[in-house]
Amino acid sequence: MKVKKKTFKNGDNIDAIGLGTWKSDPGKVGDAVKTALKVGYRHIDGAAVYGNEKEVGSALQESISEFDINREDVWITSKLWNTAHKSEDVVPALKQTLSDLQLDYLDLYLMHWPIAFKPGLKGFPQSDDDYLSLDEVPLIETWEAMLEAKNEGLIKHAGVSNFSIKKLKDLSSKTDHAPEMNQIELHPYLQQNDMLSYCNDNNILVTAYSPLGSSDRPDALKADNEPSLLENETIHEIAEKHDATPAQVLIKWAVERDTIVIPKSTNAGRIEENLKSAELNLDDEDMEKIKSLDMHYRYLDGKVFETESDMYRDVFDEQG
Ligand code: A2P
Repeated sequence: MKVKKKTFKNGDNIDAIGLGTWKSDPGKVGDAVKTALKVGYRHIDGAAVYGNEKEVGSALQESISEFDINREDVWITSKLWNTAHKSEDVVPALKQTLSDLQLDYLDLYLMHWPIAFKPGLKGFPQSDDDYLSLDEVPLIETWEAMLEAKNEGLIKHAGVSNFSIKKLKDLSSKTDHAPEMNQIELHPYLQQNDMLSYCNDNNILVTAYSPLGSSDRPDALKADNEPSLLENETIHEIAEKHDATPAQVLIKWAVERDTIVIPKSTNAGRIEENLKSAELNLDDEDMEKIKSLDMHYRYLDGKVFETESDMYRDVFDEQG
């Protein structure tokens, strides 16, 4: 399968379709990773907070030996959780992830959110006391520690996730090494046009998360009467026209727009189906139709980070 690649400034390539592992349950994620690598994925996206990196690591090591794959040919992304934003906590958190994944370097490490929790906090904050403000731990402090990890060879590339244009600009103005990636929610209901042009102009690659609408989110992260991407009529019509599936249309749309996309599945058939979207050809008419679906609808609206003092009120307010 020929999967499109996107290229970093130093010439490193990342496959535009990767396997997402958020919400992939322990007991299932390992098989998902092995299936993915067997059918041709070479990009796995994970994070410490997903709570499944040990299983991902074992599956990765088994796949490397069973399928005769080189470590260097697989792209592994992970993310720094909000409890480890203080300068002295970044490298230890990264080393824990590396140990869980049984790796000596990551291809890409992202700051998961522009939000800091108190070190050691288990689960999600219950009150303001569980947060640190960005005055107490500025994003540039976390970023510089990530760059230090890059200097030490623990990661090849550094980036961010869930950053608004304003936050990208602000961080970039304080460093000679701006983020190389922003991973954000992006799908036909939230097309992020301003973000894409800003990132394009500033040499920042974009990864689209929740490309299928993440309907397997826990109820606490769901709104009532959410619109369904996979059931959208226009997406279905385009899928039928090409003898493809709705998921394949959504994935190929993301790739056509020059983003990287990380559909999650723990089902072997769907994992393969999602990669096969690479063979689908969407035409201009299809792209135009999908363009008209934008409703600036965010599935992950950040409500989970609301605090009494509104400390992190602007996390998404400014995003396109
Ligand atoms: P499953 O893991 O059982 O395949 P997102 O990538 O936006 O987070 O969406 C993940 C959700 O989409 C999961 O519920 C996943 O279920 C489902 N999913 C993944 N691939 C497909 C597919 N090809 N067709 C339908 N649903 C899919």
